[in-house]
Amino acid sequence: MKIARARFVKSAVSPDQFPAGQFPEIAFVGRSNVGKSSLINSLLVSPGLAKTSSTPGRTQLINFFQVNDGFYFVDLPGYGYARVPLEIKRSWGPMVQGYLATRANLVLVVVITDARHEPAKLDLQMTEWLQSRGKPFIVVATKSDKLSANKLKANLARLSGAFSGATVIPYSSVTRLGTDQVWREIVSAANVQHG
Ligand code: GTP
Ligand code: MG
Repeated sequence: MKIARARFVKSAVSPDQFPAGQFPEIAFVGRSNVGKSSLINSLLVSPGLAKTSSTPGRTQLINFFQVNDGFYFVDLPGYGYARVPLEIKRSWGPMVQGYLATRANLVLVVVITDARHEPAKLDLQMTEWLQSRGKPFIVVATKSDKLSANKLKANLARLSGAFSGATVIPYSSVTRLGTDQVWREIVSAANVQHG
């Protein structure tokens, strides 16, 4: 995918703040610190566009990024981080679930999991919930640069089994392994021209 332009549009906490228009949206979800914002930056070849941090809980709002003046990438706050203030945790559920459940522009959810680990219970709950709602999703196993080729292969098979045969794409925001495969899924979901 040729990225001519990638820009931050806005942060939102409620539907009335979501961008107007009919552009397709691709949302990125997963546990805190799994690498959602890094994946967005790496796909868009735009370091620093989405704020990343080694401290979990960096992304606390729904952030909209527009690509090539067309479709949007939506960076969502991570789930499962214990040290996020209670107030934020309480608002997380309604905010993120509200977005995922009701946003008509949403065409694909990218569920990001850590290639090194078994899927987190919350990841499985998320994919089961998406499935029950008929929301299209893919699983991206990131940080795969931290594994040997053999270990990665074994873990991918395990993840694919755990996610009931869903597409699991190995990824690394460091080496950019998996970029083409993830873009293929996005382009097909958003129905855009592959430039
Ligand atoms: P929250 O917004 O806090 O939920 O986190 P996030 O899921 O957006 O994670 P973020 O992209 O901020 O990355 C968290 C940490 O993991 C950072 O220190 C990143 O540099 C690191 N990281 C992310 N992706 C990769 C990857 O593919 N490989 C390696 N080695 N490190 C990564
Ligand atoms: Mg983030």
